[in-house]
Amino acid sequence: MGFIDLHSHVLPGLDDGARSLDESVTMLGLLGQLGFEVVHATPHQKVGSWTPAREAIDGACAKVVAALPPGAPALRLGAENMWDELFLGRSLDRCIPGYRAPADAPAQPPRAFLFELPVMVVPPRVEERLFAIRRGGPLPVMAHPERYTPLWDHLDRFEALGQQCALVVDLAALGGTDGARQCRVARTLVEEGLAHAAATDVHQPSDVPLAGAGIAWLRKRLGSSAATRLLDHGPRQILNGELPA
Ligand SMILES: [Fe+2]
Repeated sequence: MGFIDLHSHVLPGLDDGARSLDESVTMLGLLGQLGFEVVHATPHQKVGSWTPAREAIDGACAKVVAALPPGAPALRLGAENMWDELFLGRSLDRCIPGYRAPADAPAQPPRAFLFELPVMVVPPRVEERLFAIRRGGPLPVMAHPERYTPLWDHLDRFEALGQQCALVVDLAALGGTDGARQCRVARTLVEEGLAHAAATDVHQPSDVPLAGAGIAWLRKRLGSSAATRLLDHGPRQILNGELPA
């Protein structure tokens, strides 16, 4: 089976990701060459920056799907939810935008959703809120845990967070192109078995080779089975609402 990307910005004109339909198609073609068979577009939902409406996301997705050549990765939808007032309101209303099943599958509530934290300040009671959201609800999936500076020296905090949500490191960080510190933290999370999956988080075509460098590092350092665990088996479990063991 092929890889599944849980985090990308491949839809055009919605956020700081792809700027045109051409860029979207190029990025998806390159991701296919890396081995991805399914790519989830996760446009930002971030107050004050980008909060594209569902209709705009569906419209952009339909345009990209219509332009994709045969053999391109399947495109599916999700969202990258910033931990802000919009997110907290949605969490209380139990309507956080999550990963959606393929269009031809029966409609069902999301089993998992992607979120990010502010980089410099981890909000209070995060673990507690994650626990409340997950109880009877979807699995929270943390984007790029290696990016949050207050956590850098606290592996025990990652262990605690990893009990409540899936930790999905960025491949570019594993490859070493997101800065030395983020690289070290991302690699430690993988080497210590704390990362549940990895994802591309691509915003533009030139990001794809950087993700490829992360896959190359995984294979070289930990073998092909690690790439399969973090890019195939792990994402499939997460999309099913299960925290990978
Ligand atoms: Fe992202």
